[in-house]
Amino acid sequence: MSAAIIDGKILAAQVKQEAAAAVRALQQWGKATPCLAVLLVGEDPASQVYVRGKESDCAACGIESRVCRLPETTTQAELLDRLAALAADPAVHGILVQLPLPRHIDPAAVIAAIPPEKDVDGFTPVNAGNLLTGGSCFVPCTPAGCLRMIRSTGLDLAGKQAVVVGRSNIVGKPAALLLLQQNATVTVCHSRTQGLAEICRRADVLVAAVGKAGFITGDMIKPGAVVIDVGINRGADGKLRGDVDFASAREVAGFITPVPGGVGLMTRAMLMWNTVLAAARQSGVDLGVSRKG
Ligand code: GUN
Repeated sequence: MSAAIIDGKILAAQVKQEAAAAVRALQQWGKATPCLAVLLVGEDPASQVYVRGKESDCAACGIESRVCRLPETTTQAELLDRLAALAADPAVHGILVQLPLPRHIDPAAVIAAIPPEKDVDGFTPVNAGNLLTGGSCFVPCTPAGCLRMIRSTGLDLAGKQAVVVGRSNIVGKPAALLLLQQNATVTVCHSRTQGLAEICRRADVLVAAVGKAGFITGDMIKPGAVVIDVGINRGADGKLRGDVDFASAREVAGFITPVPGGVGLMTRAMLMWNTVLAAARQSGVDLGVSRKG
C-alpha cells in the first residue's frame, strides 16, 4: 500500500494564516507590526534563495522584513556591529543570521550575540538550554515544523518509538527533545551508529536529517511508520532530493513527507510564527499558544 503524503504546502499555508491573523490582532491592539531582520553574508546561492523565500513569506503574513546583505569580505567584528545595532533597535523583533557564514567568521560567536528574545531561529545557547530544560524558548523552525507534520497524522506519540537520524544542533538534537517532550521513546542515530537499518525498522516515527540523498530506503522502514524527510540535497541534474528514497519508502510507510513540498516549507512557516511570537512577547502580549510541538 502506498503511504499518505503529508503535504507541506497545505500545512505551511495554515501556519502562515495563523501568523497573519496574529499580526492583524497585534495591530488591532495597537501593538507594533512584527519585524524580522535577516543578515546575509556572502553570495552562497542556496542562502540567496532561502532569504528571498523568507522575504516573500514575511510579505504574505504582513510581517515587515529587513534584509541586510553584506559582502563575503565582511569581518566578524563588522558583522557583530551590525548585529548589535539590530539588537538595540526596538522596532526589530526577530533577528536571523543566515547560515552558513563565510569560513573566517565563527558562527557560534555570532549566534551567541543574538539577544535570546529576538532569536527566532532558536539557536542561541539560552534558547537551546531552555528547550532542554522545558523553559520558555523559541523552538528551532525545522524541528518545530517536523512536529507539526507528525501531529497532522493524528498519531499520539506517547510511548511510541521515535528514531532521529542526524544529531545536528539545528535539527537532530532539538527534534529529539521535542519528541521526548511528547513522551516518545527516542533514539538518536548518527554516522557512527552500528546496526542503523535495524534501529530504523523499529521506528513508529522516523526523522531523517543526515544530508545524504536517498540514504533511508524502504527496507529500513517499519510498515505504517510516519517518515519525516528533512533532507534537501541538490543532485547533479539540479533536482532536489530528500534523505529518504521516496519511491521505495512510500511503499512501506504509512505517512511520508515529500521533497520538495515538505519540511522545507514548514521551516519557513514556523519562522513566521516565531517572529510573531517574538513581537508579541516584546509587546507584553500573550498569544496563548505554544509551538513547542
Ligand atoms: N541555513 C539553512 N537553514 C537555516 C536556518 O534554519 N536558519 C539559519 N539561520 N540559517 C539556515
